[in-house]
Amino acid sequence: MGGAAGTKGLERAQRGVCRLRYAVARGIFALGVVLFAARSFAQELSSRPGGDLTSDLPNPLAVQVAAPNVVDPARREAQGQGFAPFHSIRTKNEGLGPAFINASCGGCHVNNGRGAATISRSQGAPSQMVVKVRVPDDGSSATPRVVLDEGTQIRDHSVDGSPTARVKLSWTYLVGQYPGGARYELRKPKVSVLLAKGSKRRIVTSLRMSPPIIGPGLLEAVPWETLLQQSLAPDAIQERVSGRINWVTEVRTGRFAVGRFGFKATHPTVEQQSAAALYNDMQITNPIFNEPGSVPEVSEEELSALSIYQKLGGVPAAVDQDAPEVISGKKLFFSLGCEVCHRSTLVTGEHPDPELRNQTIHPYTDLLLHDMGARLSDGFREYSATGTEWRTTPLWGLRAIPDRERASVYLHDGRARTIEEAILWHGGEAARAQRRFVALKTKEREALLRFLRAL
Ligand code: HEC
Ligand code: HEC
Repeated sequence: MGGAAGTKGLERAQRGVCRLRYAVARGIFALGVVLFAARSFAQELSSRPGGDLTSDLPNPLAVQVAAPNVVDPARREAQGQGFAPFHSIRTKNEGLGPAFINASCGGCHVNNGRGAATISRSQGAPSQMVVKVRVPDDGSSATPRVVLDEGTQIRDHSVDGSPTARVKLSWTYLVGQYPGGARYELRKPKVSVLLAKGSKRRIVTSLRMSPPIIGPGLLEAVPWETLLQQSLAPDAIQERVSGRINWVTEVRTGRFAVGRFGFKATHPTVEQQSAAALYNDMQITNPIFNEPGSVPEVSEEELSALSIYQKLGGVPAAVDQDAPEVISGKKLFFSLGCEVCHRSTLVTGEHPDPELRNQTIHPYTDLLLHDMGARLSDGFREYSATGTEWRTTPLWGLRAIPDRERASVYLHDGRARTIEEAILWHGGEAARAQRRFVALKTKEREALLRFLRAL
């Protein structure tokens, strides 16, 4: 009896173990499916933000070396040839000046990344920020009126030590509080300009930090129809967010084109943006911006090398995309309404550079202008972009190219010292998303920031 009961008990126990094993196996399988799905969601969404241009090299090499899909040796070499013109410090003999802000592209876009929020008052050390300037007008003309001797930007250094306009940058601080009680401090820049030759002209200025140069070729290759569609997307309408294209002039052809580069999307191509930098930041004439009737100081070949260097550089791979905290941060990014402007997925179309065509990319921008509210207004119009309007900043590579010597800065004028501060400044069309961010629990806020820091 006892023996039979024992056997039965054993059988039951074995069946139990079997069932348990089966359940565990099924559980593991289900968990595997969930993890795999989560993983592929994460992987698909942002581990390879630049599509085939995504680079696994350490930063800043990722953005400086030709992207992995640039396989043609001649194309790789062409990209490499842009490194020197981008990073070398230009001299008077190479056309620099008489006045300039910084003598190399890399002097502002440090390691192809962000510049510091500094304006130098010493002639020896160049500035890493730009102060755009124009004469106040009634807003009726498409292009802002330039300031005599300054053009469109204050050039605060000179090659021969002759006096230039001087810029003074100071900060004012304000404090805020999360509903949970935690306090935060924000800062806001104040710029004053003393024009050269004691000119007392009334001017309007706008301070800009130097943004990182990540995947600009891919942003150039997104069809404008896609940009237009985004502004009509149901989720954007539901969030009462209305992005706008800034139609600007393509200087080479004189035609209207979609503005994509600069904080107010004022240049349509990497080439034109680079040519404008040569002319406005360094007073170096070039094939696009030149004095009438003179030989440009930078040749077509050099301008092309500069552009291709930036366009065909890699996009840094995102990290930790399958970490649970990053995954919940990403979910919050969508549910708070951030993704309505910072679009996670775009597909590139036709483009003269074959490497840039038909890529699925994750830049976290819609490249459109949005009203960001009075607190972020600079009162400075560029084409149709008003003082409160800014192009959604791409968030790919947020973690990349850190310069550990300097604090990172964010937003158009470098006022935000952390990603968190950048979000807290959001207003206007982004006010709802900002309020939802402020209302998050500390742990959720940390998860969102962790996600952004992993991009
Ligand atoms: C004095 C600092 C400074 C120098 C020098 C400089 N830049 Fe810039 N760069 C900026 C600023 C500021 C912006 C944003 C401009 C705006 O908001 O319109 C910018 C924007 C850009 C952009 C667009 C990035 C984007 O995401 O929209 C590109 C590309 C670029 N610069 C390339 C260059 C190249 C190439 C050179 C050298 C020929 C150069 N820059 C020199 C400060 C600088
Ligand atoms: C209505 C559109 C919109 C929404 C919604 C929005 N943003 Fe932005 N975001 C922008 C624009 C435009 C800028 C540039 C503003 C500036 O430079 O003054 C920006 C800038 C940023 C920056 C700074 C990036 C840099 O490199 O300087 C971060 C970080 C950011 N947004 C994160 C978020 C997060 C997180 C959310 C959701 C809580 C969000 N944004 C919601 C439009 C939006």
